[in-house]
Amino acid sequence: MAEVSESWAKSIPAENVQALANETSMNPEMEIPLRYIRPDLGHHQDNINSIIDEVVPIIDMKRLLDPNLSSQESSKLHHACMEWGFFQVVNHGVDDEVIEKMKVDLEEFFKLPLKEKEVFAPLSGGLQGYGQKLVLNEEKLEWQDMMFLITQPVLARNFRFWPTSPPTFRSTLDKYSAELKSVSMSLLTAIAKNLGLKPQVLHDVFKEQQRMRMNYYPPCPKANQVLGINPHTDAGALTILLQVSDVQGLQIKRNDQWLPVQPLPHALVVNIGDALEIVTNGKYASVEHRVIVNNKKERLSIAAYHSPSFDKIIGPLPEIVQGGKEYYKTMKFEEYMEFHFLAKVEGKNHMDFMKLNN
Ligand code: OGA
Ligand code: NI
Repeated sequence: MAEVSESWAKSIPAENVQALANETSMNPEMEIPLRYIRPDLGHHQDNINSIIDEVVPIIDMKRLLDPNLSSQESSKLHHACMEWGFFQVVNHGVDDEVIEKMKVDLEEFFKLPLKEKEVFAPLSGGLQGYGQKLVLNEEKLEWQDMMFLITQPVLARNFRFWPTSPPTFRSTLDKYSAELKSVSMSLLTAIAKNLGLKPQVLHDVFKEQQRMRMNYYPPCPKANQVLGINPHTDAGALTILLQVSDVQGLQIKRNDQWLPVQPLPHALVVNIGDALEIVTNGKYASVEHRVIVNNKKERLSIAAYHSPSFDKIIGPLPEIVQGGKEYYKTMKFEEYMEFHFLAKVEGKNHMDFMKLNN
């Protein structure tokens, strides 16, 4: 699409935020560039209403997979998908050691000198690698650096961008990626059952594609006036997020307020993405979320997006529509991703492109 590549070309390079944060901490007089500052934000840290006593639902995967306990846990999962779009999973079965190693290796990587990390910077026009999100002219910059990698299918990996330091990074990520793939498959099976679909149906749509965004949010002296990630929804089917640090940052939009998702030891945060909203014909909707930053502490997280492959055609599943109204268009996931990007350019809700006007 011409428009996309043109806007792409118009995107502006952003500076390394970790380096910027270091500079500002050594020189308190230094102002943070205006491109990060959002005067309209208010004091978002204090904003978190103490009267909000709602907590994101917690799903116990062990119960979900236990034939004797699964029906109760499945209805909890259904409720979480229908009413929240976000939940935390405990007893997910991922080896503690794998998670701990992943956390340590990622922390080690972000600690490397900038020069060493920049070896893994994206090549022109590419998305994979270490750097900052591509930004368009009008947009405010996000207070974060990231490492973006395609992790599944294994054959789609491009090791050009996979860190070699610490030396265990690649093997750790390989293990972590496989474990998360299996968590996502178990969840998709349970979700398919809850929707009255054959267990295999969602696997077939969302088979294998996994991309990871590893986020580093440095502390910011003006934490109340910047965002780590702008409000957004995730494009894929299921995102599984590991809150690497015990620092609150993720917030979800709920009843027009921003609700924090507290880091819970040994839990993974799961949310529904746009592609699952489309195939379920809107039954399970994706939910807007954003990230705030801390003024003293750094924060790290890993988002694993499980999505259809680009050539997969996605649209409301006939088993769900059952002769009723279809609310979404059917198109290649690739085309949909282009709309996702274009919507940003035009400042629209990208899902408007996907909805049918009926
Ligand atoms: C993301 C995301 C949340 C977080 O990477 O898509 O929403 O807590 N991350 O870092
Ligand atoms: Ni997200």
